[in-house]
Amino acid sequence: MNHNQEVIKARQALDNGALIHLPTETVYGLAGRCDREETVASIFALKGRPAHNPLIVHVANTDLAKTLSHWNEWAEILTKHFWPGPLSLVLPARQGKICLTARGGLDTVALRSPDHKMALEVLSGLDFGVVAPSANRSGRPSPTDQAAAFEETGSGVAMSLDGGACKVGIESTVISLIGEKPALLRTGVITLADLEAIIGPFENRPDQAQLSPGRLSRHYAPKSPLIIDCTHPPEGSIYIGFGYNPYTQSTLNLSHCGSLSEASHNLFRLLRYADSLNPSVIAVAPIPHLGLGEAINDRLKRAAGYVG
Ligand code: TXA
Ligand code: MG
Repeated sequence: MNHNQEVIKARQALDNGALIHLPTETVYGLAGRCDREETVASIFALKGRPAHNPLIVHVANTDLAKTLSHWNEWAEILTKHFWPGPLSLVLPARQGKICLTARGGLDTVALRSPDHKMALEVLSGLDFGVVAPSANRSGRPSPTDQAAAFEETGSGVAMSLDGGACKVGIESTVISLIGEKPALLRTGVITLADLEAIIGPFENRPDQAQLSPGRLSRHYAPKSPLIIDCTHPPEGSIYIGFGYNPYTQSTLNLSHCGSLSEASHNLFRLLRYADSLNPSVIAVAPIPHLGLGEAINDRLKRAAGYVG
């Protein structure tokens, strides 16, 4: 099948209510149409996802997004800067457009337009939104290439698109635009500072994360125990380094040159690889808590089970 035939077949599968693996710039998604209860229920079942955790609806452009949600000025400005891209916006949902199961029972919806050529080709031919949670089984590290997506949820998809390794490697930044001020719900490659530079101050409450039902404590977790912020790895562990460490000869390294974007690109792939070796412990080097480092540390803390 050539590329165009694959794209057409993927659209048909979605149109028929089947599930596909959709590559994006962040992680691979387990995708289905957002307006069919049975389709969305099959996503929750395949992932083993708790019913209260809503899904992100993917669209090719703001035109479709505006038909699914009650748009506002912040959304207008931010999408001009960041779409297509790794930013999901929570807005009030329009009645009857997105099934209740997809919204986890809420009257809001998270929307995003992925910055990935193949994903946009598939989405641009559709007149409905596509829900796409990360294609892992619930609680496991997100897949950043097609083989990993297939290993996680391949049993339930009609088609698994191969769009190469994900450029970003960690999930989109999620923000809420429904309050008096915008609020950060999940960190990502687009940082709070990037967003505040454009639309001004965000809500500064420490419990904001609770507004996003998906922020379960144990998440992204490998099978082996994980320790983080580790400079002297215990005997018998598999060590994932970052930058240069004179104490270890680790062969796995998130970024030898200490680049945070390279580290986010490699994060889930290396966690999955280390886990496949069945070590007694996986130890990860400290990651500077700056810029994109915040999002990487958020994923690592949750994977290690430290965030409650
Ligand atoms: O980068 C991404 O966003 C990837 C790719 C495939 O696009 N998708 C992804 O989906 O990470 P998922 O389902 O793994 O994460 C969705 C997050 C969860 O934390 C969920 O709670 C939050 O978005 N979310 C979705 N709808 C929401 C809503 N209406 N209100 C608050 N949080 C919401
Ligand atoms: Mg996920």
